[in-house]
Amino acid sequence: MAERRRASQRNFDRPDVGNGIHPPEGVWTFGSETPAAFDEHIASSIPAYRECHDLIVDLADQICPVQGRCYDLGCSTGVLTTRLSERLAPRGVEVIGVDRDPGMITRASRRLPGTRLLRFVRSPLEQLEFARADLAICFYTLQFVALPDRAPILTRLRRALEPHGALILFEKILGSTGREQDTVEGAYFEFKRRSGFDNDEIVEKRRSLRGVLQPLTASENYTLLEQAGFAEITHVFRWLSFDGVIAYPSGGAKPRSG
Ligand SMILES: C[S@@+](CC[C@H](N)C(=O)[O-])C[C@H]1O[C@@H](n2cnc3c(N)ncnc32)[C@H](O)[C@@H]1O
Repeated sequence: MAERRRASQRNFDRPDVGNGIHPPEGVWTFGSETPAAFDEHIASSIPAYRECHDLIVDLADQICPVQGRCYDLGCSTGVLTTRLSERLAPRGVEVIGVDRDPGMITRASRRLPGTRLLRFVRSPLEQLEFARADLAICFYTLQFVALPDRAPILTRLRRALEPHGALILFEKILGSTGREQDTVEGAYFEFKRRSGFDNDEIVEKRRSLRGVLQPLTASENYTLLEQAGFAEITHVFRWLSFDGVIAYPSGGAKPRSG
């Protein structure tokens, strides 16, 4: 009875997806009230969110040369971008955070420490003119780009990367079989409950992401990277459907014959 009353009180045009976020018309957006609640929401929605930031900062430290350049594509409120800059600025690496949402960039810009080596740029990736770079990070961003636009972005990005540079790509992926997808989805539901979301919030978030977050399988993402000209791909992270790779524009050492 109480359940039925709660359901009848729900606002289906602006459902609650957690952390006080009510996507307008029930369709997920990074605008509206999302930027204000984003840091808390994403940290409890993405497994190992902070640990993956730690990992990426350590990887960036290996990859970026002195006076290099690093992009954080889809930087949101700039949490990772700022951490990258703190680690890399001492050796003169420029870090550029890019996001298409104005509310995200406004919040990210509040973190600016006053160094010319950290910048935030508001632009859709589809229109961004990439400068030469040593590293680009795409942490759960490409999955929100329309499917036909992903290959052109990756190709332009690969051309902008220095031969010894890299792309770090994290994506939510689809299971390669129905059984895998079903098992993983069920376990992710439990993760979100443990993170403090209630059943309605979990269901409404999922509904809101329909047609907005379009995941591919791991092998479809590999194919996209290969077709964009990336020559070597190393797997660095997997937790259920959350997957991270490093893609290199030039191949590693070939096995010696004989
Ligand atoms: C899941 S969030 C990324 C999280 C962030 N990388 C982090 O470490 O917290 C996705 C971000 O990508 C941005 N975004 C989505 N599509 C984009 C596009 N086509 N061009 C630029 N930014 C985009 C969104 O505005 C959002 O801030």
